[in-house]
Amino acid sequence: MSDSPFRNVTIVGATGTLGYRIADAFLNDGSYNVKILRRKPENVNAKASSLTERGAKIVFADYSQKDELVKALKGTDVLVSTVKSNQDNNYHSFYEVQLPLLTAAKEAGVKRFIPSEFGSEYQGISHPFSDDKAKFRAEVEKSGLEYTIIFTGLFYEYLDWIGFDIKKKKATFFTDPNLTISTTSLHDVGKYTVESLKIPDARNARIRVAGATLSFNELLKKFEEASGSKWEVVEDREIRKRFREKIDPVPSPN
Ligand SMILES: NC(=O)c1ccc[n+]([C@@H]2O[C@H](COP(=O)([O-])OP(=O)(O)OC[C@H]3O[C@@H](n4cnc5c(N)ncnc54)[C@H](OP(=O)(O)O)[C@@H]3O)[C@@H](O)[C@H]2O)c1
Repeated sequence: MSDSPFRNVTIVGATGTLGYRIADAFLNDGSYNVKILRRKPENVNAKASSLTERGAKIVFADYSQKDELVKALKGTDVLVSTVKSNQDNNYHSFYEVQLPLLTAAKEAGVKRFIPSEFGSEYQGISHPFSDDKAKFRAEVEKSGLEYTIIFTGLFYEYLDWIGFDIKKKKATFFTDPNLTISTTSLHDVGKYTVESLKIPDARNARIRVAGATLSFNELLKKFEEASGSKWEVVEDREIRKRFREKIDPVPSPN
């Protein structure tokens, strides 16, 4: 049960992979009124229906209409944004997608804003994806609203993105396998988000959580232990190099 000062939480993007898990964590906690904000046009969604059955309230709004957004957010203490950027816009739109939410949140009297971060705190690199998130982060930090920015590292469920193929029991290392990486399961990201509301130090702060921080070699060992067999290992730094040179002229964050 909660000992946070907040009761009314609105989650934007709760029909998505992460948002659903965060909504699930708030409902499991049992002490929050959970509202799910969705984009118009209204449609039926299995995840939204399952959250409604457990007590969440669904509201739809046209995000380009400020008055609709403000109305939808009235009474919200905490807004958790888990929206995805508009892929059609070449990753440049976490900022554009979330700015109307931030503006409306302020006008609606929302107390705390948690932006759609939930990744790594990339430092010293420039990439459209991470630059766009950083641009919105700066907007949140100067908004005057209370905020918490949550860095989680890579979701555990996405380890295939960095070369761990569970089906084939094969690890492809595109980088030095002794480098460490932080990972957190979706379930834990949900719980950490709920817990952040109870921690005074999370107010107006960037917080870093991780389920595990292990090297690629240590992760491989874990996979081998869990699957009970040796995995095939391929070291292919050339692929990474070629990928960067041809497609991605700046270092990719993933
Ligand atoms: N650390 C990691 O490994 C990792 C991995 C994946 C994602 N992430 C991060 O987690 C966050 C959520 O990603 P996700 O994969 O869970 O997202 P997702 O499942 O693709 O989408 C989340 C929801 O956002 C809403 N949405 C989609 N496009 C939108 C748009 N253009 N404008 C407004 N709302 C839109 C939709 O909800 P409605 O249709 O109901 O409105 C959708 O269900 C992002 O910040 C992403 O970068 C991190």
